[in-house]
Order: sequence, then C-alpha cells, then structure tokens
Amino acid sequence: MKIKAAVMREVGGPMSVEEIDIAPPKENEVLIKTVASGICHSDYSVLHGILRTPMPAVLGHEGAGIVEEVGPGVTNVKPGDHVVVSLSPSCGKCPMCREEREYLCMDMSKASGGSCMMDGTTRLKNGDETVYQLLAIGSFAEKMVIPAGCAVKVRDDAPLESCCLIGCGVTTGTGAAVNTADIHPGDSVAVIGCGGVGLSILQGARIKGANPLIAVDPVPEKRELAKSLGATHTIDPFNEDLKQAVKQITGKGVHFAFEALGSMKTIDDAYSILRPTGEAIIVGVPNLREKYELPVANLFAEKELRGSVYGSSRPKRDLPMFVDWYMDGELKLDEMITKRIRLEDVNQAFEEMSRGEGARSVIMFD
Ligand SMILES: NC(=O)c1ccc[n+]([C@@H]2O[C@H](COP(=O)([O-])OP(=O)(O)OC[C@H]3O[C@@H](n4cnc5c(N)ncnc54)[C@H](O)[C@@H]3O)[C@@H](O)[C@H]2O)c1
Ligand SMILES: [Zn+2]
Ligand SMILES: [Zn+2]
Repeated sequence: MKIKAAVMREVGGPMSVEEIDIAPPKENEVLIKTVASGICHSDYSVLHGILRTPMPAVLGHEGAGIVEEVGPGVTNVKPGDHVVVSLSPSCGKCPMCREEREYLCMDMSKASGGSCMMDGTTRLKNGDETVYQLLAIGSFAEKMVIPAGCAVKVRDDAPLESCCLIGCGVTTGTGAAVNTADIHPGDSVAVIGCGGVGLSILQGARIKGANPLIAVDPVPEKRELAKSLGATHTIDPFNEDLKQAVKQITGKGVHFAFEALGSMKTIDDAYSILRPTGEAIIVGVPNLREKYELPVANLFAEKELRGSVYGSSRPKRDLPMFVDWYMDGELKLDEMITKRIRLEDVNQAFEEMSRGEGARSVIMFD
C-alpha cells in the first residue's frame, strides 16, 4: 500500500514528502491510520543529528489514530479502536515491565536505537530501499505500523487531533510532575523551557498544588501562555538574573526545578536554583555524549539531580487517564496547539520550533 510520509534523508534536513510503501502488520503489530501527529523537540534533535537514527527515516512519534488492521496475536486493540501512540511498547515481559516501570521497557531502548520494529526490520520501503521508522513509530505519515503495545486504546469521544499530544509531550511532561516528582501542595516549582513538554510539566505541577509555580522562558508569548496555564510567576532568563529572581520569589530556592529544553546550560540552571533538599528533574534531552559536573558541596545540602523518561509513566494506565483529565477540562491541550498544519508544511514547523515560536504544531491527516 502507498502512503505519503515525510522522510529524513540527511542530517539537517529538510525532510522530503514522498510516496512510500507500507507493508501489513506482522505478529504483535498493528496498522494505524494516522489522524494527527504533534511535532516534538526530539524530532528536531534527530533531524539535526543531536539524537541519532539510521536513514532514510520517517520521523514523528507523537501520534494518534484509528486501528485499521491487526497482526496475528494482537489482543489489546481491534480495527476501529481509537488509539494514542505510546513511546513504550510495554512488552510486559522484560525486567522493567515486570517492575511496573513500562517507561523503561527494554523494547523501548531497542526501538529508539534502531528505528526498527522489534524483529529488527521495518514495514516501510521506497522501492527497494528500506525506510526506518523513528522509535518503531514514524507518525509523520498517513499510516504507521507499530508494535501492538504502543497502541493504547482511548475513549471514542475524545478528539484525537488534540489527544495526539498525550503520545509524547503531555505524558512526558505531566507524568514528570505527577509520577517522577513527589510534589505536595504548596511546594515551589520552577519549569525551565515552556514548549509542549514544559507547559505539560507546568500543568501537572498545578494539578498537584504547586505554589509558587515559576515558568522560565525567553519568549514572551511562551511566558504568557504559561501564565494562562497556571504559572504564578514568570522569568525571562535572557534579561533577568535567574538565581536572583527565583530567590526573590521563594526565599531560598525551589523544591523542584524541571529542565525541559535539553541544554547543558539549562541543566545547570535547574540545579543552581534548588533550595537545600531540592530536586532537579531533567526532562530535556541534550546530546547524549555530554558529561555534567556537579558541585560536590551541593550534595551536602542534599540537593538531588535525576532524569525523567517518558514521565515515568505506565502507558496503559496513564494515557487514558490524561485523556480523561483533558475531557474534564483539568489538562488544557488545545491551548498548547499553536498551529494545525499539512504534512507538506512540516519543514516550516521545524524552523519555527528552532526560533522558539509556538508551543506545539500538529500535523493533520484526513
Ligand atoms: N525525557 C523524555 O522522555 C522526553 C520526551 C520528549 C521530549 N523530551 C525533550 O524535552 C525537551 C523539550 O521538548 P519540547 O518539544 O517541549 O521543546 P520546544 O522546542 O517546544 O520547547 C523548548 C522551549 O525552551 C525555550 N528556551 C530556549 N532557550 C531557553 C533558555 N535558555 N531558558 C529557558 N527556556 C528556553 C524555548 O523558547 C521553548 O519554549 C527536548 O529536549 C526534548 O527532546 C524528553
Ligand atoms: Zn517527543
Ligand atoms: Zn518491557
């Protein structure tokens, strides 16, 4: 079957929109008709070689759609089901899944390294050429074959064109605030970087009762958006002294500082604004070959530094729960969507992301 997809052929891009072939799902795989895909900064990092994939590859991993066909052995979804695509195949068998840490499912690391299905092959081709699918997904395409465990059924009345954000940014961000961190009402929280992920962290922290809730972003529109989504204070890190400004608001630094950009500078910023016993939670993904040096004295103020991957989520539990929170009006998704675009406009959306414009662009398929 032929489908239209945005294909990365060289580092730095641009991606080309091509007609490629998609094969039917094999055992424990499902074919999804993509309804919508958000554009996440991780796609940008892959396109620019900060994170790696074999090429040519269909990028995109923040998808939602409708199941069209299931391969042998699939029992969790059936044709017609509405699904949000999870980044974790949640195999249920590996040591991490058995510990209920599906966000670290060992199949997920397999998928993220090779951009292949679990058997090491892909379902995409252009003529004789193998086309890889980022994270075993590849949602910048009209259809995708994904591991069955990545297809998480959600309620039929939830609009998939907004719920696609739950596939990555929202689960990563809101999950970091409600799963990774242990925020209590009245705890002080700062979020550094207010794109789709940062704004989702902010909303999770608001739901947990954080106060003050400080949004840090150099782009004025992002700070305004952060306020409308629950920030009590905002800081422009390019024109204010971040440490001083946080001290002024909190007295001695924050209980939790979340980094949601993926740069060594902002990781350092997050650690530097903690109060004694505070926790810096790094959600942004920098170049994975980087090293970070810790001021040893801070260890004796019991300051902690930890990463958070995929919001420490259990996808089958959390994705439908975040959909419910959205439908109940607690989690605002539409407000985070700056633009709805066609697949052909994907390169322009990446350029806008590089300038910090807009929170989320969503590609619509019809
Ligand atoms: N840990 C995970 O599981 C996981 C999952 C998904 C995405 N991510 C990562 O999360 C990060 C954020 O993704 P996103 O899609 O929200 O990105 P984004 O590009 O939409 O947002 C980044 C934001 O940071 C702001 N910014 C730029 N410089 C800044 C500075 N010096 N201080 C503060 N803010 C600054 C930008 O204005 C923008 O609003 C990326 O690194 C992405 O790869 C991690
Ligand atoms: Zn992502
Ligand atoms: Zn597993």
